[in-house]
Amino acid sequence: MANDSLLFLILASLLLSGFFTKTSSAFSIEEASIDDLRLAFKQNQLTSRQLVEFYLKRIGRLNPLLRGVIEVNPDALFLADKADRERKVNTPGSSGGLHGIPILLKDNIATKDKLNTTAGSYALLRSVVPRDAGVVMKLRKAGAIILGKASLSEWAYFRSNGAPSGFCGRSGQGKNPYVLSADPCGSSSGSGI
Ligand SMILES: *[C@@H]1O[C@H](CO)[C@@H](O)[C@H](O)[C@H]1NC(C)=O
Repeated sequence: MANDSLLFLILASLLLSGFFTKTSSAFSIEEASIDDLRLAFKQNQLTSRQLVEFYLKRIGRLNPLLRGVIEVNPDALFLADKADRERKVNTPGSSGGLHGIPILLKDNIATKDKLNTTAGSYALLRSVVPRDAGVVMKLRKAGAIILGKASLSEWAYFRSNGAPSGFCGRSGQGKNPYVLSADPCGSSSGSGI
């Protein structure tokens, strides 16, 4: 009997101290904040490649239904591997900011890379932007990985043409992930989705 209560006490205090959650399964990418992700990088619990692969898989699985993403960056895994290598050898900047953290950008934010920048419209497909937008320069400088372009209400509603929230020609109707029939809002529908 006494042994049982002792065991119970030990288990209870381990649980309360977060022993199980910290050492085993508890880290969840879905719920992680950027700080959590950075800590996981630091503690070798996670790599940028794993994180990017997780998101690419999730986009592949959910996007045919939700249509929150127009394009993914074909260089995303390459950039993730690069970030992982930099972290390993402690390259300056590799421990700070957004280093190795993937981010999707609304499709009206210019990126001078393999991604198209079209505000969701076929009219701008294959247009060539002169440079990264200011915010993109800052994101890259902080180490972020541009994972792809999020859909939007086409032209960010600029044309006020009566198209529904979350609709753009290039990806179709974005859906509210919690209630598929509900308004996905906008104009940053894809970012929200
Ligand atoms: C950009 O658009 C062109 C033309 O449709 C397409 O071939 C290319 O794959 C697009 N880029 C990305 C990264 O999806």
